[in-house]
Amino acid sequence: MVIRVCPCNQPSSILTANKPDRIVLARFVKSPRTIGSITPSSAALGRVLSEKIDPAGTDRVLELGVGTGSITNQILKRLASADLLTCIEIDKNMCAQFRKSFPGIQLLEQDCREIETLFSGDKISNIISSLPYRSLPQSTTDAIFEQKISLSNSQTIISLFTYDFVFSNYHKRYPIRLIDSRSVVKNFPPARVYHYAI
Ligand SMILES: C[S@@+](CC[C@H](N)C(=O)[O-])C[C@H]1O[C@@H](n2cnc3c(N)ncnc32)[C@H](O)[C@@H]1O
Repeated sequence: MVIRVCPCNQPSSILTANKPDRIVLARFVKSPRTIGSITPSSAALGRVLSEKIDPAGTDRVLELGVGTGSITNQILKRLASADLLTCIEIDKNMCAQFRKSFPGIQLLEQDCREIETLFSGDKISNIISSLPYRSLPQSTTDAIFEQKISLSNSQTIISLFTYDFVFSNYHKRYPIRLIDSRSVVKNFPPARVYHYAI
């Protein structure tokens, strides 16, 4: 029997995995580098990733690489209105599952390398990403960071996580400032969240 670890960190059988978990696992088998994980992120990771959203004064929030929506749940808890959130995901199966779970939420089936023009002129408060930057080709990661920086103003917070134990040096590679970082052990695998500003 194959053992998996679900987002609540309880081991259980893959035979009893729910549909979002099975979609994530199937995608990992097919394309490990673009998903970067065998299981959806935990609620704990979602809470830390979305902690910089100001519930009282937010403009648009972008979520990049929503998958089946495990982080989305936590973002929505911090927003005065669900209309403030725009989600972006490249994979059509993930999008289909996301639409079932979040019927009213704006979802763009889109490559994050091509989002800048969609929001030009919009004020973006937070860009929250769970894209697997370390396993994507460097040119893709560079292109996505370029888009995120173009969409940001001095108030925008860019939040992301990695699974690495080595501290991230994104703030050395790109013109962004690290403003906060902490680890989240209640996730499989444990992750580190980074919040940046430009
Ligand atoms: C690690 S999964 C995160 C899923 C979910 N947010 C979570 O935390 O469980 C990364 C997601 O990013 C998506 N993705 C990868 N490259 C992308 C790209 N260039 N544009 C949009 N989405 C992308 C993948 O399809 C996958 O759903």
